[in-house]
Amino acid sequence: METCVQSGNGRKLLYEEVAAKIGGMIDNGTFRAGDRVPSIRDLSQKLRVSANTVMEAYANLENIGRIEARPQSGFYVRSSIPEPALKPTVKLETEKLKPRQIIENNVTIQVMRNITNPTLLQLGGAIPNYELLPADRLNRILAAETRRFPVQSISYAATKGTKRLRTQIAKRSINFGCSQSADDLVITSGCVEAISLALQAICRPGDTVAIGSPVYYTFLNFLRWLGLKVLEIPSTPKEGMNLEVLSYAIRHNPVHACLAISNFDNPAGSLMPDEKKQELVRLLARHEIPLIEDDVYGDLAFGSVRPTALKTYDEKGLVLYCSSFSKTLAPGYRVGWIVPGRFRPQIIQLKALFNIATATPNQLAIAEFLTNGGYDHHLRKLRRTYSRQVDQFRDTVGRHFPLGTRVSRPEGGFVLWVELPEEINTMKLYETALKEGISIAPGRIFSLGNNYDNCLRLNAAVWSEQIEQGLETLGGLAKAMVL
Ligand SMILES: Cc1ncc(COP(=O)(O)O)c(C=O)c1O
Repeated sequence: METCVQSGNGRKLLYEEVAAKIGGMIDNGTFRAGDRVPSIRDLSQKLRVSANTVMEAYANLENIGRIEARPQSGFYVRSSIPEPALKPTVKLETEKLKPRQIIENNVTIQVMRNITNPTLLQLGGAIPNYELLPADRLNRILAAETRRFPVQSISYAATKGTKRLRTQIAKRSINFGCSQSADDLVITSGCVEAISLALQAICRPGDTVAIGSPVYYTFLNFLRWLGLKVLEIPSTPKEGMNLEVLSYAIRHNPVHACLAISNFDNPAGSLMPDEKKQELVRLLARHEIPLIEDDVYGDLAFGSVRPTALKTYDEKGLVLYCSSFSKTLAPGYRVGWIVPGRFRPQIIQLKALFNIATATPNQLAIAEFLTNGGYDHHLRKLRRTYSRQVDQFRDTVGRHFPLGTRVSRPEGGFVLWVELPEEINTMKLYETALKEGISIAPGRIFSLGNNYDNCLRLNAAVWSEQIEQGLETLGGLAKAMVL
């Protein structure tokens, strides 16, 4: 980098020259999407200009979408690939907004099998990066806790979970505007168990569950298993479920529960704004419809503020809040929880019936990690890494995928939703990619209809040269499918 900016040439103002310099370095690849550009102080010293000049230059680059400010962190290069449309085009037609019976889908079963196949390059599973999780520390704590409590650790825990863990989790609820107590919570074996208990407590076979679409396919699987119908409500990767459509659907169909991920939805990545969260909770409360909330990605916000939960706005005890440590600490420990509101007695009864209690040593270890293990410090590192990688993924897709491709721009979590040009069928792309040793999650598995045949989900949790090459190969295969 040159050490000095020449000014007064009559053509450009000083701040424009600084902006042009940084813009040029983004163009020539010196700074790539997700990279942090020099701090204001650093650049002003290096270029021998005032901090105000650099601030103006950065504001200018921010306005034209080249960089973005991240609170308490600095300025970062934005990737230029467009995002999916803000609003899906939906016609309010009763015909289309009907509950549907779920039939077993062989495609989903096959895709799920490949998502865990270690011989394939995994680009599609919503699996955290194990290298970023504090395995050593957590496992050491587990060993220490079982030594400290030898008898308790081999005993059944209470069905609702150990008091210490419930207290630690309850304390964290202040982060999203709730003030839960240990008694509000029931510990579960992961978030999926929490959701399945919630559905069983609320619904009977034949009932209908409204759910944002594209839908996390595991939900479709267990809704099918429980004999429930699904009512898919279109969502956008920006703000989630379309509430106008939901409201219309509720007025024209019996809806017995709603299942929603308002923070960094899987697969769309959306973050519902607070007003919309409030509106959703109120809308369902007016109809006395229980709302099952999956907040498993809520702690992975890239910004400095942890987003609120739907539970934050629950005035009637109708929201059943479900989450776990699977995305942030240890999916293998199978520790999650539910805050079931007015359904607490049924949830405890079901948990006792089907599972007795969650494994005690894992509860002891996670409680100790939350108390003394530096969970917040760990989360900050994780969020920074995922934020950078999401940009790297978007940038790489932008460079290698066919023209017209759009990629979601989640503000948390690690899954990306990719919309390819209409003529590309991602089931075919999935088959071709498999032959190259690459596994993706095609759009078809995220809906009962053929709504997302040109879409796919990517997992940005892991970044490596091999992944970058895999994306390049995938982009090349997609390009070859463009007519
Ligand atoms: C939205 C969502 N909910 C729940 C889970 C699974 O959570 P757990 O492993 O805690 O059961 C996943 C994992 O992919 C997920 O994406």
